[in-house]
Amino acid sequence: MSESAELTGPRTRIPSEGVAETAASERDIGVKVGDNLVEVKNLTVKFGGLLAMDDVSFNIKRGEILGLIGPNGAGKTTCFNAMTGVYKPTSGQVLLEGKLLNGMKQHKITRAGLARTFQNIRLFGEMTALENVVVGLDARHKTSVVGALLRLPRHIREEKSAIERGMALLEFVGIADQAATLSRHLPYGSQRRLEIARALATDPKVLCLDEPAAGFNPAEKEELMQLIRIIRDDGYTVLLIEHDMKLVMGVTDRIVVLEFGKKIADNIPSVIREDPKVVSAYLGEPEDDFA
Ligand SMILES: Nc1ncnc2c1ncn2[C@@H]1O[C@H](COP(=O)(O)OP(=O)(O)OP(=O)(O)O)[C@@H](O)[C@H]1O
Ligand SMILES: [Mg+2]
Repeated sequence: MSESAELTGPRTRIPSEGVAETAASERDIGVKVGDNLVEVKNLTVKFGGLLAMDDVSFNIKRGEILGLIGPNGAGKTTCFNAMTGVYKPTSGQVLLEGKLLNGMKQHKITRAGLARTFQNIRLFGEMTALENVVVGLDARHKTSVVGALLRLPRHIREEKSAIERGMALLEFVGIADQAATLSRHLPYGSQRRLEIARALATDPKVLCLDEPAAGFNPAEKEELMQLIRIIRDDGYTVLLIEHDMKLVMGVTDRIVVLEFGKKIADNIPSVIREDPKVVSAYLGEPEDDFA
């Protein structure tokens, strides 16, 4: 991809409702819609004697919202961590567009196109909302440190576009009015939305969301699911961990179920809902988890 294309980033447009929408970038994606964009093959993660992931395989197709569910401790976050380079898998492979990600550092995996949010929010508390997003955009900048210090024309141009893009992303997730607020002062729901904006800023091919609606009330959850649908409709591929089964069933195209580190089901929501293995995995879980 040419340098200029890389710096262009998401297109922004103002739809009729007046809400700025950030479109997926023109970034080349090496597979067709509906084909396997990510392949997780026989992924195993051991913590001492504990098999947190046991030979798990699944694919993420370009353009889908794939749900990753399972009771507490099933291995969902471990799966994200192994995919995004936080943990080194004990064995197995993760491929993006057919290219092996194992062994790559976290920032390289992000740059390759796999972005994620964290179950426990990780923002720069002393930075504003806008700065948190611009930091994500910076990963794709070409300007050298010297160029930045000397304020060479290209750096100034990038800075402007970074701020414009950052603002467009904040508007897209619905928190543009809080752009100048330190992230530690943002209401909890805005922090969750800011995490998504920051992940989108890296121009991902796949967006992995780890319980993005945790702690939300039902109305806030429904709003967030609507945002996730818009993100997908905009050309992104989404992997979603979410505990609230009703929401997962409503928003995903397909669901992978983990239990005790093993994959126990992989199917469309209507089949997952009736799967006896899945129902029994959720017995004893809080009632609102499996509705
Ligand atoms: N860094 C670690 N060291 C040791 N054990 C770990 C580590 N991270 C996770 N585990 C263990 O691995 C298992 C899977 O944990 P994981 O956090 O992946 O579950 P989860 O499906 O995300 O659960 P939850 O729904 O509660 O977020 C659990 O038994 C957990 O205690
Ligand atoms: Mg988790």
